[in-house]
Amino acid sequence: MSAFGKSLSTVIVATTLVAWTAVSVVSAQGPWVAPADAKAAKNPVKGVGNAKKTVETNCVSCHGASGKGDGPAAAALPPPKPANWTSDAVQKQGDGEIFWKISNGRGAMPPWKHLPENERWEIVNYIRTLKGK
Ligand code: HEC
Repeated sequence: MSAFGKSLSTVIVATTLVAWTAVSVVSAQGPWVAPADAKAAKNPVKGVGNAKKTVETNCVSCHGASGKGDGPAAAALPPPKPANWTSDAVQKQGDGEIFWKISNGRGAMPPWKHLPENERWEIVNYIRTLKGK
């Protein structure tokens, strides 16, 4: 690659990083609400399957072993902190809304679209089992 090409790609990478940071900072402001069509989605899956295991692998570092948002990585994160799944704030939401948030993520919460759809619904069902715990 020419010197010009190299510095151009450095500029592109730097610009992309700045833009991405700005987007993630802006998107982490204010209440997090799923779009109406996502909220209306019906949960097609019954049971939790292997969700406990999937959650242990992917989520407890932030959300904690009992889902209270107190995982080892949570302390180091700036607000908004990982959600407490046992709380009313999460449990009052519909399955479709929780599913959409798991799929899309926001700020420090990663998107989990790469997990198969039925597994994401099983995670929603698993989160339901933690209600009020
Ligand atoms: C790197 C840390 C991290 C990991 C790993 C993580 N989360 Fe989160 N999660 C967060 C943060 C931070 C928030 C709050 C985001 C916000 O409000 O903007 C959040 C929010 C949520 C919410 C939204 C609750 C609400 O406020 O409505 C759900 C549901 C959730 N996470 C599920 C999961 C699931 C399921 C996994 C694993 C598959 C997971 N998270 C993995 C950090 C994480």
